[in-house]
Amino acid sequence: REHDRGNEINARRARPNECVSSLQTMSVLRQLYDRDFPVYKQPVEIGYFSLDSKRKFWNDARQLRYYVEPEKCPNFNLRDGYRDRFVKRDDSIKEKLDHILRWILANRHKVQSKNVTCPVGVDFVTWRGHLTKLLTTPYETQEGWLLAVSKLAGTLYISEVETEYACRNRDNRTERHEEMMYWGYKFEQYTCADEAQGCPDSGGVVNTNEAFCTVVQTRLAEHKLLFSGEVDCREADLQAPQAPACYIELKTSAEIHTPKQRSNFHRYKLLKWWAQSFLPGVPKIVAGFRDNDGQVVDVETFKTSQISQLIKTEYNCWKPTVCMNFCSDFLSFVRETVREDDPRTVYLFSWDPHKDVTFTIHRDSEYSFLPDWFVKEMTR
Ligand code: A3P
Ligand code: MG
Ligand code: MG
Repeated sequence: REHDRGNEINARRARPNECVSSLQTMSVLRQLYDRDFPVYKQPVEIGYFSLDSKRKFWNDARQLRYYVEPEKCPNFNLRDGYRDRFVKRDDSIKEKLDHILRWILANRHKVQSKNVTCPVGVDFVTWRGHLTKLLTTPYETQEGWLLAVSKLAGTLYISEVETEYACRNRDNRTERHEEMMYWGYKFEQYTCADEAQGCPDSGGVVNTNEAFCTVVQTRLAEHKLLFSGEVDCREADLQAPQAPACYIELKTSAEIHTPKQRSNFHRYKLLKWWAQSFLPGVPKIVAGFRDNDGQVVDVETFKTSQISQLIKTEYNCWKPTVCMNFCSDFLSFVRETVREDDPRTVYLFSWDPHKDVTFTIHRDSEYSFLPDWFVKEMTR
């Protein structure tokens, strides 16, 4: 694995014959995107899939869980089980878009369009998490991103490439940070049941390979999007509105004592929480506030649609319209840039804080991410 890692790092440096210097760039300055909110159609769930405890793909909802409302001040110890009942997903394995592509092949009838030049019938296919990063870019000062884009049969596929900075951070996480990453999943176990009428089993194993993912279709300005995102749980009431309106996002956060802490929560955390849930149309976020020992001391519900109101008390705070207009303009930039319809060609879009977005072009490189089994089926 160490050997592979070395190759990966080398792969990130474009070789001279692969590199086309960026003739076009894109600014991320907030004021350029502070205009009317763009059209964002209500996201429609067109399907879902599950990843089991071994990370195996299933074209069904077997991993969907049901929310069980906890007490206002529950006695949840998020540290419980970290040592002895935790199976952690191997995050050095890069799955790229593979699960979504598998879903598309298994559900061709749902995505097929009559347009023979664009059989998937959307402009973009990607993960919700990649779009979340785009939405928050105008406000991000710490972490840049690399997004690989290939065009196949008229559709643009966007797949993230881990930056050297993120790779180093992943390798150098402290033991404390490793444990705190577990706390979010432990909170999910305390608040979710496997069946609609069931009870949470806080004595079970937390396995972060397991996931339920929704697949939604929507439109941002003139861009038709198909993306997938992990969903933590749904309302246990089977009479609840249909997905994605019945979905609930679960979060943990440090408890808030001071005005400064509240302000930081509004400025940084709520931006990420809002972007993640707004994109797939998840209306509700349940937050467990915990102390430094991992004890949940308060549970609060946030309506995704009310977060923009909640933050208006902050001076010079983030604006949803800036996030959405930046994302829309970036997608336009990608469409203008990516001309070659060839799965072996990758346009690598790169952004670092305080800089412009740039791109390089790579043919038959280690960046290629559309697998042969998908290309073969889509070009049949
Ligand atoms: P919290 O949400 O309570 O922070 P998600 O909230 O997206 O459903 O993710 C579940 C948990 O995965 C998170 O719980 C956190 O523990 C962990 N996690 C998600 N994204 C992460 C990231 N970028 N870095 C570290 N941990 C992350
Ligand atoms: Mg989740
Ligand atoms: Mg969550």
